Amino acid sequence: MTLLETDRLVLRNWSEEDRPFFHRINSDDTVMEFFPFRRNREEADAVMDRIRDGIAKNGFGFAAAALKCSGKPIGFVGLHKPSGLTNLPDGSIEIGWRLAPEYWGKGYVTEAAQAWLAFGFDKLGLEEIVSFAVVHNARSIAVMRRIGMHHDPNGDFDHPGVPESHPHLKRHALYRLTQSDWRAAQK
Ligand SMILES: CC(C)(COP(=O)(O)OP(=O)(O)OC[C@H]1O[C@@H](n2cnc3c(N)ncnc32)[C@H](O)[C@@H]1OP(=O)(O)O)[C@@H](O)C(=O)NCCC(=O)NCCS
Repeated sequence: MTLLETDRLVLRNWSEEDRPFFHRINSDDTVMEFFPFRRNREEADAVMDRIRDGIAKNGFGFAAAALKCSGKPIGFVGLHKPSGLTNLPDGSIEIGWRLAPEYWGKGYVTEAAQAWLAFGFDKLGLEEIVSFAVVHNARSIAVMRRIGMHHDPNGDFDHPGVPESHPHLKRHALYRLTQSDWRAAQK
């Protein structure tokens, strides 16, 4: 099920054949450097099922990004309703991403994220989209800046889902983009 297309990518829902790849990007130490967990195959399957149901219901979520030229999945990029974060108002929508390392450094996430921003503001009519990452996750924060998001230092927070065993992964930077700022940057 294709959700969006960009020059090089198809953004689509997950399929059965994606399961080994989805497990890899949820368990690989390089990809998961800034997360306190690694998912085993059973856990990854359950997460994929949840994401897939959400995309089927809402038309957005952490969608698979696949190369147009080969059909191969390279990771996920999408809009998502964060859960368990009391620092964000109800109804907040985040944009997030995760790519297999062999696809880093080619601008794929920026390209897909721009398509999701247009979808969020034009089709969903969102007033704002947020994003957050561990403060040391420079690559992710570079994507946020590249797509025009602004740091809100007053919004930085300790992620409640990160256990005390991983104190260096607790502090998160919050970035925001309003619909009006996004529209102004399109001109
Ligand atoms: C965060 C992550 C998705 C960023 O991936 P990325 O490849 O750096 O991001 P992009 O796809 O936007 O590519 C940008 C890079 O491609 C280069 N690039 C090449 N062609 C480009 C183009 N057409 N447009 C934009 N950038 C381009 C940029 O110069 C930049 O390179 P640099 O890192 O050397 O500065 C990736 O590192 C990742 O999956 N990390 C692990 C998971 C993770 O931490 N997710 C975020 C949790 S909050």
